Amino acid sequence: MTQDELKAEVGRAALAYVTPGSILGVGTGSTVDKFIDALATSGMPLAGAVSSSERSTHRLRAHGLRVVEAAEVERLSVYIDGADEIDGRGCMIKGGGGALTREKIVADLAERFVCIADESKRVEVLGRFPLPVEVIPMAAAQVARRFAGLGGRAVPRAGFVTDNGQLVLDVHGLAIADPLALESEVNQWPGVVTVGLFARHRAHTCLLGTSLGVQAFVF
Ligand code: A5P
Repeated sequence: MTQDELKAEVGRAALAYVTPGSILGVGTGSTVDKFIDALATSGMPLAGAVSSSERSTHRLRAHGLRVVEAAEVERLSVYIDGADEIDGRGCMIKGGGGALTREKIVADLAERFVCIADESKRVEVLGRFPLPVEVIPMAAAQVARRFAGLGGRAVPRAGFVTDNGQLVLDVHGLAIADPLALESEVNQWPGVVTVGLFARHRAHTCLLGTSLGVQAFVF
């Protein structure tokens, strides 16, 4: 199966985690695009979706699905999103598509994070995929120096501005043994909007698309 087919398969499998008539948290990325398409095709009634990006908002609306502002919702039962890497404890690197801040906001509203990913995303140690960090431009050089002190090489994402009007640094060369500790530390650095480590908001379930079918992991 191609990577695209694996993404489509986990997108369909995620429908089992959606409660008909509920408001659902919806992430961002090519895997989530497949999920949104499967959701629309299924005809499942939904009260609405809280979207984590302009990209997903457009896709949801194009399918006639109602998008609800995060401010209108106190709790979501489920948030469905992809990942750039996921480890054996459900900790993730996210933000390859640059939507990490809104993704973390919506994940924070949800009781359960269901990660959908193809098997290439499963790793033992996070960090081979460059860690995205959204920063206020004034702080970019300062934050890059801090990462250099940890052995990382922060590269500004060229020609990219987030939905929030900020920059993204992609940090190469990290082997993240303790994702929760690094997330907590980077969260303290002035000028950091969001670090794309999801350890505090790790996945509760991962649906992994493999050549043997979809495997479900509960963390
Ligand atoms: C978006 O900012 C990311 O966090 C995505 O969830 C992540 O990059 C996975 O994207 P794909 O499903 O396109 O691999």
